Amino acid sequence: MDIKKTQDEINRLDQIQAWNHNFELPNGLTTSRAEQISHGKNLVKYERISKIFDNLNINDMKVLDMGCNEGFFSIKMEERGADVTGIDIDSRRIEKAKFIKDLIRPDSSIQYKNIDIYSDKVKELDEFDLCLCLGFIHRIPDPFTAISILASKADIIIFEWKALKFGSHDESFAFFSTKDIDEKDFYGTEYWLLSYKALERILTRSGFKNFYRVDDPSQRRAILVAGKVDHEIFSNKDKISHRNKIRTLLSHSKRFVTVIWKIITGKINA
Ligand SMILES: C[S@@+](CC[C@H](N)C(=O)[O-])C[C@H]1O[C@@H](n2cnc3c(N)ncnc32)[C@H](O)[C@@H]1O
Repeated sequence: MDIKKTQDEINRLDQIQAWNHNFELPNGLTTSRAEQISHGKNLVKYERISKIFDNLNINDMKVLDMGCNEGFFSIKMEERGADVTGIDIDSRRIEKAKFIKDLIRPDSSIQYKNIDIYSDKVKELDEFDLCLCLGFIHRIPDPFTAISILASKADIIIFEWKALKFGSHDESFAFFSTKDIDEKDFYGTEYWLLSYKALERILTRSGFKNFYRVDDPSQRRAILVAGKVDHEIFSNKDKISHRNKIRTLLSHSKRFVTVIWKIITGKINA
């Protein structure tokens, strides 16, 4: 595809649904428009999870990317040598993922499928060594059913999600989002915000027994590696250093100062 046709297709897909990620394409083009603000999100997320990927040794694994969106993480998994299947309920996202794959990795064998996790089509899928479940469980109405389905498909699952931001993560809490249905992006609607413990309890009922919490409060997003099987990542977890202690300390200090300021200015009651 020549540059003009590629740009026209980027624009057409953008009109249908704004790009989520700013992909840098081989011919110097990029997907995102200047006014979009989420360019760095996937890069930050990938950076946070990279050490887990290193430890799991993705090479030759069969990986399911659940809620693959435009395929950013599917491509990263294939770059690490995995055999990848990406699934998403949104046909517009799958169309974009295929477009990007053809441009960035023309020889790729990633399979993208337009499937709802709650549909019978998921049962027809193969089994996987690893499932990525990133930015997903707070976007679905029934996490228990979805997780039971995923549990039947993979022995290890990596979760990254918008977790409960208050209370103890050692209590099994779920909080229903105060946001309304997302009218522009229905499949981006927010539902349940789960604590670590709530997610672990759900997983335990589906046969998972090993958990590794990557607990970096400075990022405000939780990451959990869950396993039905034993793997050295669960026994060596203390050796995997993710926490940027200075950043965590600064984040806590900032929140502390913000709360004090709100009390002083009367925005919240002490
Ligand atoms: C916030 S995005 C996360 C995308 C990507 N995994 C990431 O971490 O950046 C959530 C994705 O889940 C998809 N999704 C929502 N409900 C779904 C469902 N029932 N079945 C499959 N995919 C779904 C959405 O279309 C969207 O692409």
